[in-house]
Amino acid sequence: MIEVAKRLQTVEEYYFSKKLREVAALAASGKPIISLGIGSPDLPPPPKVLEAISESFTHPNAHKYQSYQGLPELREAMATFYKTQFAVELNPASEILPLMGSKEGIMHISMAFLNEGDAVLIPNPGYPTYQSVTNLVGAKGVFYNLDAENNWMPDFEALEKSDLTKVKLMWVNYPHMPTGAKPTETVFEDLVAFGKRHNILIINDNPYSFILNDAPKSLLAVEGAKDVCLELNSLSKTFNMSGWRVGMVMGSAEHINHILKVKSNMDSGMFFGIQKGAIEALHCADSWYSELNKVYEERRKLVWELADALDCTYDKNASGLFIWAKLPEGVKSEAFIDKILIEKNIFITPGTVFGTQGEGYIRFSLCATSEAIKETIARVK
Ligand SMILES: Cc1ncc(COP(=O)(O)O)c(C=O)c1O
Repeated sequence: MIEVAKRLQTVEEYYFSKKLREVAALAASGKPIISLGIGSPDLPPPPKVLEAISESFTHPNAHKYQSYQGLPELREAMATFYKTQFAVELNPASEILPLMGSKEGIMHISMAFLNEGDAVLIPNPGYPTYQSVTNLVGAKGVFYNLDAENNWMPDFEALEKSDLTKVKLMWVNYPHMPTGAKPTETVFEDLVAFGKRHNILIINDNPYSFILNDAPKSLLAVEGAKDVCLELNSLSKTFNMSGWRVGMVMGSAEHINHILKVKSNMDSGMFFGIQKGAIEALHCADSWYSELNKVYEERRKLVWELADALDCTYDKNASGLFIWAKLPEGVKSEAFIDKILIEKNIFITPGTVFGTQGEGYIRFSLCATSEAIKETIARVK
C-alpha cells in the first residue's frame, strides 16, 4: 500500500464535496430536492463576457500558454475596477496578480509566507478553506471568535491579550461569509494598525462586496495598508462566473512578487478566452450591479419569509449571497438541516460548517430561483 503524505491527515474532504453527494443521491432516488446550500450563482454572466470568449477562439494566441501574470489588459482592467469601485490605486504592472479564483490565492499566499509552526489567525465562523490550507502547509490555525453581539467584528481587546508571538498571518473576510456582516466604519483602520503593531500580514478576502451592499469597501483603501495587507477579490459572485475561475490578489509589489514565485511554479497561465471575458466583466457599467441586486433582493425577501416560517431570526442589514439565520434556542444546526432535508427535501447549510461559533445557526443561499424558494416556503408552511 502506498502511504499518503502526513499533511493529508490534517484535512478532511470538504463538507460540500461529501454532503452534495448525499443530496445528489437523494435527488437520483426521485426526491424533489431544492438546494439552498451552496453559493454558486445560477444567473448568467454579462452577455458581452460570453461574446468576448467566443470571439477569442480564433485569435492567433488563443490556445498558447499565457503569461504567468496574465494579460496586461486584464491587470489594467483590474486596476481600473479597484480605482472606480473602491478608490484604491494599484500599479497594474506590479501590484496585481490574476488568480484562478480567490480560493487558490489562499493556498499561494500561505505557501509564500508561512513556515511550519507559524500561527495563523482564522475567523470563527469563517470560510473553512483558511483552516484546511493552514493545516496543509504545516502552520497552526488559531481561531478568533466572532459573535453577533460584536456585529461579527474581531474583538481587538481579546486579540491584544492573546499570545501573538508566533502569529504571522491573519485572515479576515468583510463583507463576512457566512454572516453577511459589512465592515464597520473603523474595522479596516483597526486591522491595519493591528497588523503594523504586531508585524502580522492581514489578508481581506473580499468576494461579496457587490452583492446586496450599497457601500463596497476595500481594506487597501486605508492609508499605508499595502505595508502589511493583501486583498483577494473574485469575479465568481460579482459577475456570476464561479465556474470560470477568475480572481485576483492585490498588495505591495514586494508581497505580490513572493506570491508570483509560488504561482509561477504551479500553473502555466490562465486560458486566453477566460481572460478576455474577465476584462469585459470588469468593465461593466453600474447597471450590471443594480440589475443583479434586484434579483437577489426579491429572492432575499422570500428567504426571509422561509426563515420566519422556520422560526429563525436574522439581520435584515446583512449583505452578500446568503442569509445567516439563528435557530430557536437549543436547536442544533446539523440535526435541524438533516430533518429538513429528509422531511421537506430542502438542503440548507448548517452553521457548524463554518466553525463552532456557527452552532445554532443555518445559512440559506440566494442561488435558487424565486419559484424554487416559493416552493420551499409552501413545503414548510
Ligand atoms: C469567503 C470566501 N472566500 C473565497 C471563496 C472562493 O471564491 P472563488 O470562486 O473566487 O475561488 C468563497 C467561495 O465560496 C468564499 O465564500
